[in-house]
Amino acid sequence: MKIAVATSGGDSAGMNAVVRAVVRSGILKGCEMWVVREGYEGLVRGNSQAVQNEGDLINVAAQSAAMDGAAIMKDADHVPDQNLTHNLRFGDGELLKDGTAESVGGRTLKGRYIVRVGWDDVRGWYSQGGTLIGTARSASFRAREGRLAAAHNLVKEGINALIVCGGDGSLTGADIFRSEWPSLIQELRDEGTISEEQLQSHTHLRLCGLVGSIDNDMSLTDLTIGAPTAVHRISEAIDNINSTAYSHSRAFIVEVMGRDCGWLAILAGVAGGADFIFIPERPPKVNPWEDDLCAEIKKHRALGKRKTIIIVAEGAQDLDLKPIRAEYIKDVLTERLGLDTRVTTLGHTQRGGPPCAMDRILPTLQGVEAVEAILESKPGTPTYMIGIQENKITRVPLMQAVEATRNVARLIKSKDFDNALAARGSDFLG
Ligand code: F6P
Repeated sequence: MKIAVATSGGDSAGMNAVVRAVVRSGILKGCEMWVVREGYEGLVRGNSQAVQNEGDLINVAAQSAAMDGAAIMKDADHVPDQNLTHNLRFGDGELLKDGTAESVGGRTLKGRYIVRVGWDDVRGWYSQGGTLIGTARSASFRAREGRLAAAHNLVKEGINALIVCGGDGSLTGADIFRSEWPSLIQELRDEGTISEEQLQSHTHLRLCGLVGSIDNDMSLTDLTIGAPTAVHRISEAIDNINSTAYSHSRAFIVEVMGRDCGWLAILAGVAGGADFIFIPERPPKVNPWEDDLCAEIKKHRALGKRKTIIIVAEGAQDLDLKPIRAEYIKDVLTERLGLDTRVTTLGHTQRGGPPCAMDRILPTLQGVEAVEAILESKPGTPTYMIGIQENKITRVPLMQAVEATRNVARLIKSKDFDNALAARGSDFLG
Protein backbone atom coordinates (compact mmCIF):
# COMPACT_ATOMS: atom_id res chain seq x y z
CA MET A 1 0.00 0.00 0.00
CA LYS A 2 1.10 3.55 -0.66
CA ILE A 3 0.41 5.89 2.24
CA ALA A 4 0.95 9.65 2.22
CA VAL A 5 1.24 11.81 5.33
CA ALA A 6 0.57 15.55 5.50
CA THR A 7 0.55 18.26 8.12
CA SER A 8 -2.09 20.95 7.81
CA GLY A 9 -3.24 24.19 9.44
CA GLY A 10 -1.17 25.90 12.13
CA ASP A 11 2.04 24.05 12.92
CA SER A 12 2.56 22.55 16.35
CA ALA A 13 5.49 20.94 18.10
CA GLY A 14 5.36 17.19 17.57
CA MET A 15 4.20 17.24 13.95
CA ASN A 16 7.61 16.05 12.79
CA ALA A 17 7.47 13.22 15.28
CA VAL A 18 4.13 12.24 13.71
CA VAL A 19 5.66 12.18 10.24
CA ARG A 20 8.62 10.17 11.48
CA ALA A 21 6.46 7.62 13.28
CA VAL A 22 4.04 7.26 10.36
CA VAL A 23 6.82 6.88 7.80
CA ARG A 24 8.80 4.40 9.83
CA SER A 25 5.93 2.27 11.05
CA GLY A 26 4.52 2.23 7.52
CA ILE A 27 7.86 0.99 6.19
CA LEU A 28 8.01 -1.66 8.90
CA LYS A 29 4.54 -2.84 7.86
CA GLY A 30 5.62 -3.16 4.24
CA CYS A 31 4.08 0.03 2.87
CA GLU A 32 5.50 2.56 0.48
CA MET A 33 5.58 5.91 2.25
CA TRP A 34 5.12 9.40 0.88
CA VAL A 35 4.91 12.88 2.32
CA VAL A 36 2.81 15.77 1.06
CA ARG A 37 4.61 19.08 1.38
CA GLU A 38 2.78 22.31 2.29
CA GLY A 39 -0.38 20.61 3.57
CA TYR A 40 -3.44 20.43 1.32
CA GLU A 41 -1.88 23.06 -0.90
CA GLY A 42 0.71 20.44 -1.88
CA LEU A 43 -2.00 17.89 -2.60
CA VAL A 44 -3.69 20.35 -4.93
CA ARG A 45 -0.45 21.31 -6.69
CA GLY A 46 0.90 17.77 -6.97
CA ASN A 47 3.99 16.97 -8.96
CA SER A 48 4.49 19.20 -11.93
CA GLN A 49 7.75 17.70 -13.01
CA ALA A 50 9.01 14.26 -13.74
CA VAL A 51 11.15 12.41 -11.23
CA GLN A 52 14.78 13.32 -11.69
CA ASN A 53 17.30 10.85 -12.96
CA GLU A 54 19.13 8.90 -10.35
CA GLY A 55 22.30 10.53 -11.49
CA ASP A 56 21.10 14.04 -10.82
CA LEU A 57 22.53 14.58 -7.41
CA ILE A 58 21.02 17.76 -6.24
CA ASN A 59 21.67 19.57 -3.03
CA VAL A 60 18.15 19.87 -1.70
CA ALA A 61 19.04 22.63 0.72
CA ALA A 62 20.26 24.79 -2.15
CA GLN A 63 17.04 24.49 -4.11
CA SER A 64 14.78 27.36 -5.08
CA ALA A 65 12.77 29.56 -2.75
CA ALA A 66 9.88 27.13 -3.04
CA MET A 67 12.01 24.78 -1.05
CA ASP A 68 13.01 27.18 1.70
CA GLY A 69 12.24 25.80 5.09
CA ALA A 70 10.43 22.87 3.59
CA ALA A 71 13.28 20.55 2.70
CA ILE A 72 12.33 17.20 4.02
CA MET A 73 15.86 15.95 3.91
CA LYS A 74 18.30 17.12 6.48
CA ASP A 75 21.21 15.74 4.58
CA ALA A 76 21.05 16.06 0.83
CA ASP A 77 23.76 13.45 0.31
CA HIS A 78 21.66 10.99 2.11
CA VAL A 79 18.49 11.02 0.08
CA PRO A 80 17.18 7.66 -1.05
CA ASP A 81 16.16 7.49 -4.66
CA GLN A 82 12.71 6.70 -6.00
CA ASN A 83 13.65 3.10 -6.61
CA LEU A 84 14.48 2.25 -3.04
CA THR A 85 11.90 -0.04 -1.54
CA HIS A 86 10.39 -0.29 1.88
CA ASN A 87 12.96 -2.72 3.19
CA LEU A 88 15.52 0.01 3.72
CA ARG A 89 17.84 -0.27 6.62
CA PHE A 90 20.61 2.15 7.21
CA GLY A 91 24.08 1.97 8.59
CA ASP A 92 26.54 4.64 9.50
CA GLY A 93 26.46 7.27 6.78
CA GLU A 94 25.12 5.02 4.03
CA LEU A 95 21.85 3.41 3.21
CA LEU A 96 21.71 -0.34 3.08
CA LYS A 97 19.19 -2.23 1.01
CA ASP A 98 18.74 -5.89 1.71
CA GLY A 99 21.89 -5.74 3.74
CA THR A 100 23.98 -4.45 0.87
CA ALA A 101 25.66 -1.06 0.95
CA GLU A 102 24.41 1.18 -1.82
CA SER A 103 25.40 4.53 -3.06
CA VAL A 104 22.47 6.84 -2.74
CA GLY A 105 20.91 8.86 -5.51
CA GLY A 106 19.18 12.18 -5.06
CA ARG A 107 16.28 14.03 -6.55
CA THR A 108 15.01 17.52 -6.70
CA LEU A 109 11.91 18.51 -4.83
CA LYS A 110 11.35 21.62 -6.90
CA GLY A 111 7.82 21.50 -8.28
CA ARG A 112 7.20 18.25 -6.41
CA TYR A 113 4.81 18.34 -3.51
CA ILE A 114 4.09 14.64 -3.13
CA VAL A 115 7.36 12.91 -2.42
CA ARG A 116 8.32 9.33 -1.73
CA VAL A 117 10.42 8.99 1.44
CA GLY A 118 12.49 6.34 3.11
CA TRP A 119 13.49 5.43 6.61
CA ASP A 120 16.47 7.70 6.77
CA ASP A 121 14.65 10.80 5.51
CA VAL A 122 12.99 11.28 8.86
CA ARG A 123 15.97 10.57 11.04
CA GLY A 124 16.02 12.72 14.17
CA TRP A 125 12.71 14.37 13.37
CA TYR A 126 11.27 13.63 16.82
CA SER A 127 13.12 16.57 18.30
CA GLN A 128 12.50 19.19 15.59
CA GLY A 129 10.00 22.02 16.06
CA GLY A 130 7.35 23.10 13.55
CA THR A 131 6.75 20.88 10.56
CA LEU A 132 9.62 20.14 8.19
CA ILE A 133 7.31 19.12 5.37
CA GLY A 134 5.57 22.48 5.55
CA THR A 135 1.97 23.38 6.18
CA ALA A 136 -0.54 25.86 4.84
CA ARG A 137 -4.07 27.04 5.38
CA SER A 138 -5.11 26.12 1.83
CA ALA A 139 -7.96 28.06 0.24
CA SER A 140 -7.87 25.99 -2.96
CA PHE A 141 -8.57 22.71 -1.14
CA ARG A 142 -11.75 24.24 0.27
CA ALA A 143 -13.18 24.32 -3.25
CA ARG A 144 -14.27 21.10 -4.98
CA GLU A 145 -12.09 21.97 -7.94
CA GLY A 146 -9.04 21.92 -5.67
CA ARG A 147 -10.08 18.60 -4.16
CA LEU A 148 -10.52 17.16 -7.66
CA ALA A 149 -6.96 18.21 -8.48
CA ALA A 150 -5.83 16.63 -5.19
CA ALA A 151 -7.57 13.34 -6.04
CA HIS A 152 -5.97 13.40 -9.49
CA ASN A 153 -2.52 13.92 -7.99
CA LEU A 154 -2.89 11.10 -5.47
CA VAL A 155 -4.21 8.63 -8.03
CA LYS A 156 -1.46 9.59 -10.45
CA GLU A 157 1.12 8.62 -7.84
CA GLY A 158 -0.82 5.46 -6.97
CA ILE A 159 -1.49 6.62 -3.41
CA ASN A 160 -4.69 5.35 -1.81
CA ALA A 161 -4.22 6.25 1.86
CA LEU A 162 -3.78 9.58 3.56
CA ILE A 163 -2.85 10.45 7.13
CA VAL A 164 -3.38 14.09 8.09
CA CYS A 165 -2.13 15.81 11.22
CA GLY A 166 -3.89 19.11 11.92
CA GLY A 167 -6.61 20.91 13.84
CA ASP A 168 -10.37 20.44 13.56
CA GLY A 169 -10.65 22.52 10.36
CA SER A 170 -8.00 20.44 8.64
CA LEU A 171 -9.51 17.17 9.79
CA THR A 172 -12.97 18.22 8.65
CA GLY A 173 -11.45 19.02 5.24
CA ALA A 174 -9.96 15.53 5.17
CA ASP A 175 -13.30 13.92 5.91
CA ILE A 176 -15.06 15.93 3.20
CA PHE A 177 -12.37 14.75 0.79
CA ARG A 178 -12.92 11.13 1.78
CA SER A 179 -16.70 11.31 1.53
CA GLU A 180 -16.47 12.94 -1.89
CA TRP A 181 -13.89 10.45 -3.10
CA PRO A 182 -16.19 8.18 -5.18
CA SER A 183 -17.65 11.16 -7.03
CA LEU A 184 -14.18 12.66 -7.54
CA ILE A 185 -13.02 9.37 -9.03
CA GLN A 186 -16.07 9.33 -11.30
CA GLU A 187 -15.26 12.86 -12.44
CA LEU A 188 -11.68 11.84 -13.20
CA ARG A 189 -13.04 8.92 -15.19
CA ASP A 190 -15.28 11.27 -17.17
CA GLU A 191 -12.32 13.55 -17.81
CA GLY A 192 -10.38 10.60 -19.15
CA THR A 193 -7.00 11.89 -17.94
CA ILE A 194 -6.22 8.80 -15.86
CA SER A 195 -6.32 5.21 -17.01
CA GLU A 196 -9.26 3.02 -16.01
CA GLU A 197 -6.85 0.53 -14.46
CA GLN A 198 -5.46 3.18 -12.11
CA LEU A 199 -8.91 4.42 -11.22
CA GLN A 200 -10.08 0.88 -10.47
CA SER A 201 -7.45 0.48 -7.79
CA HIS A 202 -8.45 3.76 -6.13
CA THR A 203 -12.13 3.30 -5.47
CA HIS A 204 -11.66 3.78 -1.73
CA LEU A 205 -9.54 6.43 0.02
CA ARG A 206 -8.23 5.27 3.36
CA LEU A 207 -7.94 8.22 5.71
CA CYS A 208 -6.91 8.82 9.29
CA GLY A 209 -6.53 12.01 11.34
CA LEU A 210 -4.16 13.00 14.14
CA VAL A 211 -4.80 16.15 16.10
CA GLY A 212 -1.95 18.64 15.90
CA SER A 213 -2.81 21.90 17.66
CA ILE A 214 -1.38 23.90 20.53
CA ASP A 215 -4.91 24.88 21.60
CA ASN A 216 -6.00 21.49 23.01
CA ASP A 217 -9.46 22.32 21.80
CA MET A 218 -10.51 19.02 20.21
CA SER A 219 -13.19 16.99 21.96
CA LEU A 220 -12.87 13.24 22.54
CA THR A 221 -9.15 13.43 23.15
CA ASP A 222 -7.44 14.54 26.35
CA LEU A 223 -4.43 16.08 24.67
CA THR A 224 -3.60 17.44 21.24
CA ILE A 225 -0.12 17.23 19.77
CA GLY A 226 1.80 20.43 20.56
CA ALA A 227 -0.31 21.58 23.51
CA PRO A 228 2.07 20.27 26.22
CA THR A 229 5.02 22.06 24.60
CA ALA A 230 3.05 25.31 24.34
CA VAL A 231 2.12 25.20 28.05
CA HIS A 232 5.73 24.53 28.88
CA ARG A 233 6.81 27.48 26.76
CA ILE A 234 4.28 29.79 28.42
CA SER A 235 5.23 28.75 31.92
CA GLU A 236 8.91 29.35 31.11
CA ALA A 237 7.98 32.82 29.83
CA ILE A 238 6.07 33.52 33.03
CA ASP A 239 9.14 32.47 35.05
CA ASN A 240 11.10 35.09 33.13
CA ILE A 241 8.43 37.72 33.56
CA ASN A 242 8.16 36.91 37.28
CA SER A 243 11.69 38.01 38.03
CA THR A 244 11.41 41.35 36.27
CA ALA A 245 7.90 41.90 37.68
CA TYR A 246 9.22 41.21 41.17
CA SER A 247 12.16 43.58 40.72
CA HIS A 248 9.92 46.53 39.82
CA SER A 249 6.90 45.42 41.83
CA ARG A 250 4.96 45.53 38.59
CA ALA A 251 1.84 43.91 37.18
CA PHE A 252 2.02 41.97 33.92
CA ILE A 253 -0.82 40.99 31.66
CA VAL A 254 0.30 37.96 29.66
CA GLU A 255 -1.75 37.20 26.56
CA VAL A 256 -1.69 33.60 25.40
CA MET A 257 -3.05 31.80 22.33
CA GLY A 258 -5.79 29.17 22.20
CA ARG A 259 -8.51 30.62 19.96
CA ASP A 260 -11.79 29.99 21.79
CA CYS A 261 -10.26 27.50 24.21
CA GLY A 262 -8.92 28.42 27.64
CA TRP A 263 -6.81 25.32 28.20
CA LEU A 264 -3.44 26.98 27.60
CA ALA A 265 -4.36 29.95 29.82
CA ILE A 266 -5.60 27.81 32.72
CA LEU A 267 -2.73 25.36 32.70
CA ALA A 268 -0.09 28.04 32.29
CA GLY A 269 -1.76 29.99 35.09
CA VAL A 270 -1.54 27.02 37.42
CA ALA A 271 2.04 26.28 36.37
CA GLY A 272 3.10 29.91 36.66
CA GLY A 273 1.22 30.97 39.81
CA ALA A 274 -1.02 33.58 38.15
CA ASP A 275 -3.17 35.92 40.23
CA PHE A 276 -6.07 36.00 37.79
CA ILE A 277 -6.95 34.15 34.57
CA PHE A 278 -9.40 35.15 31.84
CA ILE A 279 -10.72 32.38 29.57
CA PRO A 280 -13.50 32.18 26.97
CA GLU A 281 -15.50 29.36 28.56
CA ARG A 282 -15.76 30.87 32.05
CA PRO A 283 -16.22 34.63 31.87
CA PRO A 284 -15.89 36.60 35.14
CA LYS A 285 -19.01 35.88 37.23
CA VAL A 286 -20.40 39.38 37.11
CA ASN A 287 -20.56 42.12 34.56
CA PRO A 288 -18.90 44.59 34.85
CA TRP A 289 -16.06 42.49 36.20
CA GLU A 290 -13.46 45.19 36.83
CA ASP A 291 -14.36 45.68 40.54
CA ASP A 292 -13.90 41.96 41.25
CA LEU A 293 -10.57 41.90 39.50
CA CYS A 294 -9.29 44.92 41.42
CA ALA A 295 -10.54 43.55 44.75
CA GLU A 296 -8.70 40.27 44.11
CA ILE A 297 -5.44 41.92 43.09
CA LYS A 298 -5.62 44.34 46.02
CA LYS A 299 -6.08 41.38 48.36
CA HIS A 300 -2.99 39.66 46.93
CA ARG A 301 -0.95 42.83 47.25
CA ALA A 302 -2.17 43.29 50.85
CA LEU A 303 -0.83 39.82 51.58
CA GLY A 304 2.60 41.08 50.60
CA LYS A 305 2.92 40.12 46.91
CA ARG A 306 5.33 42.40 45.06
CA LYS A 307 4.20 41.29 41.64
CA THR A 308 0.97 40.55 39.82
CA ILE A 309 0.56 38.14 36.92
CA ILE A 310 -2.68 38.05 34.98
CA ILE A 311 -3.16 35.62 32.11
CA VAL A 312 -5.63 36.44 29.40
CA ALA A 313 -6.54 33.94 26.70
CA GLU A 314 -6.77 35.54 23.27
CA GLY A 315 -10.43 34.47 23.11
CA ALA A 316 -11.36 35.71 26.60
CA GLN A 317 -14.74 37.39 26.89
CA ASP A 318 -17.20 38.72 29.44
CA LEU A 319 -20.68 37.45 30.24
CA ASP A 320 -22.04 39.38 27.25
CA LEU A 321 -19.45 37.77 24.95
CA LYS A 322 -17.58 41.05 24.63
CA PRO A 323 -13.84 40.41 24.16
CA ILE A 324 -11.61 41.15 27.15
CA ARG A 325 -8.35 42.61 25.88
CA ALA A 326 -4.96 42.69 27.59
CA GLU A 327 -4.53 46.43 26.96
CA TYR A 328 -7.84 47.16 28.61
CA ILE A 329 -6.94 45.12 31.71
CA LYS A 330 -3.69 47.07 31.86
CA ASP A 331 -5.63 50.36 31.87
CA VAL A 332 -7.89 49.09 34.64
CA LEU A 333 -4.96 48.15 36.89
CA THR A 334 -3.08 51.33 36.13
CA GLU A 335 -5.98 53.70 36.64
CA ARG A 336 -7.80 52.03 39.51
CA LEU A 337 -4.94 50.52 41.51
CA GLY A 338 -2.07 52.74 40.39
CA LEU A 339 -0.03 49.64 39.48
CA ASP A 340 2.87 50.01 37.09
CA THR A 341 1.55 47.54 34.46
CA ARG A 342 2.94 46.04 31.27
CA VAL A 343 1.46 43.76 28.60
CA THR A 344 3.37 40.82 27.14
CA THR A 345 1.85 39.04 24.15
CA LEU A 346 3.65 35.72 23.82
CA GLY A 347 2.42 35.12 20.25
CA HIS A 348 4.17 32.50 18.16
CA THR A 349 6.93 31.88 20.71
CA GLN A 350 4.33 29.54 22.24
CA ARG A 351 4.04 27.52 19.05
CA GLY A 352 7.57 27.16 17.76
CA GLY A 353 10.66 25.46 19.10
CA PRO A 354 11.52 21.88 19.95
CA PRO A 355 8.83 19.59 21.32
CA CYS A 356 8.87 18.60 24.98
CA ALA A 357 9.12 14.88 25.81
CA MET A 358 5.33 14.41 25.82
CA ASP A 359 5.13 15.90 22.32
CA ARG A 360 7.58 13.29 21.11
CA ILE A 361 6.03 10.33 22.87
CA LEU A 362 2.38 11.09 22.10
CA PRO A 363 2.85 11.61 18.33
CA THR A 364 5.06 8.54 18.11
CA LEU A 365 2.45 6.29 19.72
CA GLN A 366 -0.36 7.92 17.77
CA GLY A 367 1.53 7.80 14.46
CA VAL A 368 1.95 4.04 14.83
CA GLU A 369 -1.75 3.68 15.66
CA ALA A 370 -2.71 5.78 12.63
CA VAL A 371 -0.87 3.42 10.29
CA GLU A 372 -2.60 0.44 11.91
CA ALA A 373 -5.98 2.14 11.52
CA ILE A 374 -5.22 2.74 7.84
CA LEU A 375 -4.22 -0.87 7.26
CA GLU A 376 -7.42 -2.10 8.91
CA SER A 377 -9.63 0.42 7.11
CA LYS A 378 -12.28 -0.97 4.76
CA PRO A 379 -14.96 0.71 2.68
CA GLY A 380 -17.71 1.57 5.13
CA THR A 381 -15.55 1.91 8.25
CA PRO A 382 -15.56 5.45 9.63
CA THR A 383 -12.61 7.77 9.28
CA TYR A 384 -10.85 7.63 12.60
CA MET A 385 -9.16 10.31 14.61
CA ILE A 386 -6.38 9.05 16.83
CA GLY A 387 -6.64 10.46 20.34
CA ILE A 388 -5.66 9.74 23.92
CA GLN A 389 -8.15 9.18 26.69
CA GLU A 390 -7.29 8.14 30.23
CA ASN A 391 -3.77 7.24 29.18
CA LYS A 392 -4.88 4.99 26.35
CA ILE A 393 -4.30 5.73 22.68
CA THR A 394 -7.75 5.69 21.12
CA ARG A 395 -9.53 5.66 17.78
CA VAL A 396 -12.72 7.69 17.62
CA PRO A 397 -14.85 8.48 14.59
CA LEU A 398 -13.37 11.72 13.31
CA MET A 399 -16.64 13.49 12.61
CA GLN A 400 -17.98 12.61 16.06
CA ALA A 401 -15.01 14.45 17.58
CA VAL A 402 -15.39 17.41 15.20
CA GLU A 403 -19.11 17.63 15.95
CA ALA A 404 -18.52 17.53 19.72
CA THR A 405 -15.91 20.29 19.34
CA ARG A 406 -18.32 22.44 17.36
CA ASN A 407 -20.96 21.85 20.01
CA VAL A 408 -18.69 23.47 22.61
CA ALA A 409 -18.40 26.56 20.41
CA ARG A 410 -22.20 26.62 20.03
CA LEU A 411 -22.70 26.36 23.81
CA ILE A 412 -20.29 29.25 24.40
CA LYS A 413 -22.08 31.36 21.81
CA SER A 414 -25.39 30.69 23.48
CA LYS A 415 -23.82 31.63 26.85
CA ASP A 416 -24.35 28.15 28.26
CA PHE A 417 -20.94 28.29 29.94
CA ASP A 418 -21.41 25.46 32.45
CA ASN A 419 -22.31 23.00 29.73
CA ALA A 420 -19.55 24.32 27.49
CA LEU A 421 -17.02 23.54 30.18
CA ALA A 422 -18.55 20.14 30.83
CA ALA A 423 -18.49 19.43 27.09
CA ARG A 424 -14.78 20.24 26.92
CA GLY A 425 -14.52 17.16 29.09
CA SER A 426 -11.35 18.26 30.82
CA ASP A 427 -10.74 18.21 34.56
CA PHE A 428 -8.60 21.30 34.14
CA LEU A 429 -11.46 23.33 32.75
CA GLY A 430 -14.36 21.77 34.64
O1 F6P B 1 -4.69 27.16 16.33
C1 F6P B 1 -3.38 27.44 16.67
C2 F6P B 1 -3.14 28.91 16.79
O2 F6P B 1 -1.81 29.12 17.20
C3 F6P B 1 -4.11 29.68 17.68
O3 F6P B 1 -3.81 29.53 19.05
C4 F6P B 1 -3.96 31.07 17.16
O4 F6P B 1 -5.13 31.81 17.38
C5 F6P B 1 -3.75 30.86 15.68
O5 F6P B 1 -3.29 29.53 15.52
C6 F6P B 1 -2.76 31.81 15.06
O6 F6P B 1 -2.75 31.55 13.70
P1 F6P B 1 -1.70 32.18 12.70
O7 F6P B 1 -0.38 31.52 12.97
O8 F6P B 1 -2.23 31.87 11.37
O9 F6P B 1 -1.62 33.65 13.01
